[in-house]
Amino acid sequence: MSNDELYSPPENLAKKAWIKNMDEYKEMYDRSINDPEGFWAEQAEQFFWYEKWDKVCDHNYNVKNGKIFIEWFKGAKTNITVNCIDRHLKDRGDQTAIIWEGNEPDEDCTLTYKQLHEEVCKFANVLKKHGAKKGDRISIYMPMIPELAIAMLACARIGAVHSIVFGAFSPTSLSDRIVDSSCSLLVTTDGGFRGKKPVPLKENADKAMQMASKQGTDIKQCIVVQRVGDKLETAMQKGRDFWWHDEMKDASPDCEPEKMDAEDPLFILYTSGSTGKPKGAQHNVGGYMMFTALTHKYIFDYQDGDIWWCTADIGWVTGHSYIVYGPLANGATTIMFEGIPTYPDAGRFWAVVDKHKVTQFYTAPTAIRALISHGEDIPAKYDLSTLKVLGSVGEPINPEAWRWYHKHIGRGRCPVVDTWWQTETGGILISPLPGATPCKPGSATFPFFGVVPVVIEAETGKVVEGNDVSGVLALSRPWPGQMRTVFGDHERFEENYFKMYPGYYFTGDGCRRDKDGYYWVTGRVDDVINVSGHRIGTAEVESALVLHEKVAEAAVVGFPHDIKGQGIYAYVTLMDGMEYEDGLKKTLIDFVRNEIGAIAAPDVIHWAPGLPKTRSGKIMRRILRKIAADEGDQLGDTSTLADPSVVDQLKESYRKI
Ligand code: WT7
Repeated sequence: MSNDELYSPPENLAKKAWIKNMDEYKEMYDRSINDPEGFWAEQAEQFFWYEKWDKVCDHNYNVKNGKIFIEWFKGAKTNITVNCIDRHLKDRGDQTAIIWEGNEPDEDCTLTYKQLHEEVCKFANVLKKHGAKKGDRISIYMPMIPELAIAMLACARIGAVHSIVFGAFSPTSLSDRIVDSSCSLLVTTDGGFRGKKPVPLKENADKAMQMASKQGTDIKQCIVVQRVGDKLETAMQKGRDFWWHDEMKDASPDCEPEKMDAEDPLFILYTSGSTGKPKGAQHNVGGYMMFTALTHKYIFDYQDGDIWWCTADIGWVTGHSYIVYGPLANGATTIMFEGIPTYPDAGRFWAVVDKHKVTQFYTAPTAIRALISHGEDIPAKYDLSTLKVLGSVGEPINPEAWRWYHKHIGRGRCPVVDTWWQTETGGILISPLPGATPCKPGSATFPFFGVVPVVIEAETGKVVEGNDVSGVLALSRPWPGQMRTVFGDHERFEENYFKMYPGYYFTGDGCRRDKDGYYWVTGRVDDVINVSGHRIGTAEVESALVLHEKVAEAAVVGFPHDIKGQGIYAYVTLMDGMEYEDGLKKTLIDFVRNEIGAIAAPDVIHWAPGLPKTRSGKIMRRILRKIAADEGDQLGDTSTLADPSVVDQLKESYRKI
């Protein structure tokens, strides 16, 4: 392990950075830990509040002391859209807030803060006209077009809680989320683009609305943006479906923001866990607003005039926090990209950086690895000299990819900030600061202000002190951006994150703290797979597979994948009398794609007439993981297996892909 390979911050960047060296970082970090109330209250002064808080933070982190709760700035009143838009109007009304880069390279547009304000207010009035009010949940199912950001901000304006569902999720996934959050309003589009191909979204939405309705949740109004137009036929149901452009025509551009308590919910975002259906992570207004803004400012060293680009989709938390809320709260210019990294060719990212003079670029290791495979000659063709800071998120970045990113994209001039966080954390918790932290490729380095990571020995639950240790990663105190509950199921929240190690928030990740105190997050220790930086629960894929009439049982594990980080490997047992034939494998893969969405489609189906189980009937996933990783010769202790011949059969039938 190249533990001693250190990349120091470039001097010219450090000189102008918000945090200029490790001493400054340590001083501010220590203050945030020793006087959290004072520290956060001071940070909160940078934001707009109608009324100040009663208390900075109140919480219970220990299940033994009763109900878990986390509150920041309770009693304070604000509206996140006033912080993200209105308060910038005076000084930067004509500054570009959002640069939209379309799927086609010649298609783009901008919205100034003034224009964004107008559009958001108008759509907020449309929502109101359709009866939406504070506390209502509204589902949004859209591709990366400006109306998506406008719709979410419009919800926040009137205090409605948005639940954004990634546009590539299936009708079933959308329906599940509509039902779980009991939405009565949906905002969607006729379709979107994937490369040259138009994909119908309204058609999926129609199916989802029908399914949800059968489960007792009726979408009363569906507002549809026209994105694709003629190339798609879009059915509109009278009385329920309305075109966005019709609704917006006469909408008033004035909309008083709803006065929200800092602890009122802002949004729900569904994320996969190790068991059951995805859970709705609920984030609340005040703390989330502050935390996304401050992490964006310090971790990417965002300064006035910078052009910020986060390549994520707004359907994931990265897009919520670092395309929309954090950057806009900082008065930034933020890019929203509709396309994919390889269309029209593998130079697209760099063409966009060149075209819009991007200063900070934030992407995922999977995208970097995919682009590495196209060679360094491609980025070499573009002017990337405006770049100052590069970011990585979603999974551990392998040191080779880190070095390539640093050398061929940053041209050796830009720090790479490897940012560790989760949907649940709302914002980044562990990351270098670009002007201060000497980086080690593959390490997320040190905690952000106010964050206290602890390493716990998994089996005993004991906190391991000191350096050069490893275990699982937990947090010992709350931070403002932390999720507050699982929507509609607070017990599940406690169960999932707080029961395992009383007194700590358990992340589900494994981790090492090296001899210099650097954190290295090594990946999930639970039954969650990280595919291209997106979380999939093995249980979800298994449930989808067993819905197929020919499938009796399925066991899903992750396996190492060159581009995706982890791939999905499914062992499948068919019903008695069914034939194990190759053609059925593709059918099952497509079946899962239709049930959940393309990202959940298994990479491998391995026929398993029998699965390795203990005598009590529990599937031994450890063994399945080993076989899937081509490590069938290192199975370890198999003495608890009910039928060892099952394992031999699986080892024999293993084929490397
Ligand atoms: C899981 C969270 C946070 C936005 C994107 C993913 C893994 C994320 C890193 C990183 C190592 C990372 C963890 C985490 N992860 N970033 N920099 N280094 N691992 O959000 O879908 O909630 O997934 O992604 O395993 O638990 P998410």
